[in-house]
Amino acid sequence: MSDNKTFFYEAGSFPDLSYTELCCVLSCYGINKEDINRFSNKLFLIRKENFTDSIAKTVFDRLGGCVRYGVLLEDLDSFLDKYFQKEEKVVFGISILDHTKKEDYKFVKKLGRQIKDGFKENNVSSRFVLPMKNNLSLNAAQIDKNNILTKGFELTILRNNTQEIYGQTLKVQNIEEYAERDMDKPFTDVVMGTLPPKLARMMVNFTSRNKGILWDPFCGSGTIALEALLSGFDVLASDIDYKAVKGVKENISWLNRDGLIDGREYNAFQMDITKANKGLISKLKKTNIDAVVCEPFMGPPQKHPISEQLADELLSNVENLYKHLFTLLDDLLSKRGEMVVIIIPSYQTKSGFKTFSINKLITNRWKLRNSYYVRDRGLKWSRKNSIIQRNIYILERS
Ligand SMILES: C[S@@+](CC[C@H](N)C(=O)[O-])C[C@H]1O[C@@H](n2cnc3c(N)ncnc32)[C@H](O)[C@@H]1O
Repeated sequence: MSDNKTFFYEAGSFPDLSYTELCCVLSCYGINKEDINRFSNKLFLIRKENFTDSIAKTVFDRLGGCVRYGVLLEDLDSFLDKYFQKEEKVVFGISILDHTKKEDYKFVKKLGRQIKDGFKENNVSSRFVLPMKNNLSLNAAQIDKNNILTKGFELTILRNNTQEIYGQTLKVQNIEEYAERDMDKPFTDVVMGTLPPKLARMMVNFTSRNKGILWDPFCGSGTIALEALLSGFDVLASDIDYKAVKGVKENISWLNRDGLIDGREYNAFQMDITKANKGLISKLKKTNIDAVVCEPFMGPPQKHPISEQLADELLSNVENLYKHLFTLLDDLLSKRGEMVVIIIPSYQTKSGFKTFSINKLITNRWKLRNSYYVRDRGLKWSRKNSIIQRNIYILERS
């Protein structure tokens, strides 16, 4: 049992995406949005009967969008007392999560010194790992390199506008695994570009499922396919380009080099979404697809803001492709609750971003879920200074 612990999850760089992802993943464990306290923009708290240590960890391991999770401390003194009794050297760190102030560096240094003094008084040797001046939160590399979570603890100070609470970090995101999948997979399409695996993982999680059959009809190098397989789905991956089909198969074999996804089934095949033949459609219909998650072709890459006229041209081509896709999906996904998670691009023009509305594409058989999670704001992702912004939509077959 959780002994009524309160767990915290810290969002990465796109808090609304992280929050939505957490809501979706928790829904698989019967926990709904109302049970999640958005303590600050980046910090989410969960206290719920039956939300055990092991579920809290499994949830964290599934998330692409949260960088840290931990448990709130009832009482800082008794928490520290436990460590003051240790025989071996203790390594500890302190991080302030969200709402940091200018004077916090001094505060962290002072608190670290006081804790060190406590260790000294108890004849326990200790080492304090100080965060950087410009970022008062230790990053995953600092935490791992210093063995903070194995040889001691990270004390986290969670802040919002009015409150400050203490927590202990239980785990930080394994950024190396994500980086490996991003950089080391054998096939990548540099011209088309690839999604960052963390974003692909979030999109997979936006389906609020972790099993069944997931199809990416614009698979490219298969970033979504890989994250879906790791999340527990069986996968269909298709693309107009044969190179991508061959590449995604290579990437899946690479992912499974240590048997990580043994037992998962997958199939990759060539398919032009605008010219799908009847045989293929009827095969797909018989497949019982549970979710479609994709980043369709979004037009050629752009380096500089484009003219409104070019944006209109590109968007109209892209929109046409999406129309084909939705005509097909209307036919293929016919059961209530089947999910589509899809990216629609916005282009940066000299007079702001331009896009097209998802409502123009979907029939009333689709319920748009975005505003259930984040009201009045879109779910957006973009690289710094990028001309193309990705708008993510979560649709449920009603
Ligand atoms: C933006 S890329 C997807 C990248 C992918 N998410 C990844 O991370 O590697 C879009 C893909 O759509 C494919 N594509 C373009 N037109 C298509 C069509 N009519 N039918 C199917 N695939 C198409 C392209 O070959 C390209 O691989």
